Order: sequence, then structure tokens, then C-alpha cells
Amino acid sequence: SSATLFKIAAIPGDGIGVDITEAAKQVLDKLAEVNGTFRFEYTTFDWSSKAYKARGWYMQDDWEAQLKTHDAIYFGAVGWPDVPDHISLWQMILPIRQVMNQYVNVRPTRILRGTTPPLAQLQKTPQDLDWIIIRENSEGEYAGQGGTTHGHTANAIATEVAIFTRVGIERITRFAFETAKSRPRKKLTMVTKSNAQRHGMVLWDKVFFEVAKEYDGVVEYDKMLVDAMTVRMVDHPESMDCIVATNLHADILSDLAAALAGSIGIAPSSNLDPTRSCPSMFEPIHGSAPDIAGKGIANPVGAFWSAAEMVRWLGKGELDAVADQFMEAIENVTGKPDTRTRDMGGSANTMQVTEAVCREIENVC
Ligand code: NAI
Ligand code: MG
Repeated sequence: SSATLFKIAAIPGDGIGVDITEAAKQVLDKLAEVNGTFRFEYTTFDWSSKAYKARGWYMQDDWEAQLKTHDAIYFGAVGWPDVPDHISLWQMILPIRQVMNQYVNVRPTRILRGTTPPLAQLQKTPQDLDWIIIRENSEGEYAGQGGTTHGHTANAIATEVAIFTRVGIERITRFAFETAKSRPRKKLTMVTKSNAQRHGMVLWDKVFFEVAKEYDGVVEYDKMLVDAMTVRMVDHPESMDCIVATNLHADILSDLAAALAGSIGIAPSSNLDPTRSCPSMFEPIHGSAPDIAGKGIANPVGAFWSAAEMVRWLGKGELDAVADQFMEAIENVTGKPDTRTRDMGGSANTMQVTEAVCREIENVC
């Protein structure tokens, strides 16, 4: 057929990662079928903590070459109670993000129809929370430098060194300004802790304000310290639009954002290589949820929203309307009590929500 082929590397991982990746493929295929101008082909990789436990490795030695033959990576979740989390992170997720040049992590947050946010203010005016958090994804506090000396003694010493580079700060700042510029409100808030951390974070502030000059009169911008930022997110959610922060700070702030929006099960995350030389990676922000794994009740909405962001990215501007319609279909489903999962106050299972979204795609897209 003449439909554009998108080759997807699917990494379901562990626990509910497997269920929601399957659900995401089903709705993506429905979207492609209804639209007709594109189609998906998946390669599924059995890279998981369960497999690691059985065979001693996560990814094959040539994982980089294997991933690079694809247009995008769709990732479920990795992690299982009998494997320490730093092993899965450092043997799989962080190498993928670093080697695939995914130096931007984008986390949109808003209150989807049918979710009940914990703050009274947001229950009245859910439109007050509409953010995109842009996280530096390649260096900073997660650069991995440091070491341990006398680790097994009472004199144990360990260092954890945060790395900030001008190149790294400049490219994330530029991406954040471009994102803000493309949004109706055109606002950007920069977050650091440059009062207490006086080297790396001071460089961050300096480079940010240098780049900001290019956007004077185009994007409205301001600066916050991370502790004060948590208060502002709760007290004045309507005062923010785009937010840019370091690896660690944005990791924490985006979990707070997901909780303020009502559920960890709905939030998406995109790991982007803005240069498009490597495939970008799309994943829900939740983990493998061992407590509900294997029960078929995981909320697939975060997986669907991530899939919508993948379509947007693959379309390079040509599929924005399709991604918006896809989101509309998802919200038509979350908007009805009988097609919500337990974590959203309903009683539907993963498969029922998935089928409902497929039906809505036929109506909306
Ligand atoms: P988690 O996100 O897996 O679960 C936290 C709580 O939220 C649990 O009660 C879970 O049942 C619930 N939950 C999460 N997603 C849900 C969904 N889609 N539908 C309904 N309920 C949902 O975080 P946790 O328990 O701290 O971590 C479990 C494992 O996942 C760990 O090994 C952790 O390292 C890993 N993890 C992996 C991530 C990734 O692959 N990107 C991200 C976060 C955690
Ligand atoms: Mg996190």
C-alpha cells in the first residue's frame, strides 16, 4: 500500500508494562486503519528484569544497532522486586536515553476528562492545570559520576557528582523556548536551586538568560527556586505553562504534576532526540506496578497518551490533527464512568478501556 510505514521497537518490559504495551499497539493499529495514510510495524524486544534474572543480561551487545533500524521506541515499564532498581536503570533505560541522544524529556500534564484531581481549586476549574514539563535528560544529577571508598566499613564515603555543561544547558533551554513559543500562552518558567548550589546551577541560570534574550517579546519567562516551585504548583497552577528544569528537579516536579492531575496511570513521557538522528522513545511515566500485575486491570490511558505523542513526533507536524483526534477519543472514554479503570474510580479492566478507545477512534478520527 502507499501508507507510510513507521517501524516501532516495542519494549514491553515487566509487570503491567506488558499489558499496556499490547493495549497501545491495538489502538495504534486501529488509528492507522481508520486514517489510512500510515501504518505500524513492530519488533518486540524481550528486555526486562524478569529476563535479566533468568539469563543475566537485559539487552544484546548490538542493542544500539538493533534500535537504530526503527523510527521510534515504545517502552512499557521495567523493574521487578527481586532485581535492585539501579541495575535496570543503569543497564537499560539510562544507556538507551544517553546513546540514542534523547537529551529532552517532555512531560505534558493536564486534567483529562473524568479524572478527579486532589485539589479543590482544580476540581472547579480543571483547565487551570495545563503544563508541559521539559526535563534535561542526559546529564546533571544523573550523569553517573562519583564513587565509593571504604564502602564496607564504618568510614564509608560516597560521592555523587552532578555535571552541567554549557552545550547541555543551551540545547535544553532552546528546546524549552521553542516549545513555549508553539503554545497559545507562550510562557516558560525555569527552575534551579542556584542559591545553595553555586556552580552548576549558577551556570544553568546564566546560560538560560543568555538564550532568553533571543525570545524577548515572544515568550514570557521567569525563574523559580525548586522548593518555592512546589508551593507555586499547588497554590497557583494557572500561573504556569511550560517549565524547564534539571534532570533530578524535573523528575520530582513531574511526579508532583501527575499527582496534581489526578492519577499516575494517565501521564505520558517522551524521550526525544530533537536532531532526529536516533529514534525517540515514548513511555507512560508509571512503573511496572507489581501489586496489580497479571490482573488485567492496569489503566492503559497513560500508554495511549504516550502513543499519541509518538504519532505527533513521527508526523513531524503532518499528524498533529490526528494526534489531537486520538486524544479526543481517549477523553471521550475517560469521560464516561463505565469505561474508567479502578484508579479513576471505575470498574472497567484494561481490555474494556482499550476496546472502548478503539470504538471512539472509529467515531472521532
Ligand atoms: P509504579 O508506578 O509501578 O506503581 C505505583 C502505584 O501506582 C502502585 O500502587 C500501582 O498499582 C499504581 N499504578 C501505576 N500505574 C498504574 C496504572 N497504569 N493503572 C493503575 N494503577 C497504576 O511505581 P512503583 O511501585 O514505585 O515501582 C514498581 C517498579 O516499577 C519498580 O521496580 C520501579 O523501579 C519500576 N519503575 C519503572 C519505571 C519505568 O520503567 N519508567 C518508572 C517508575 C517505576
Ligand atoms: Mg520518576
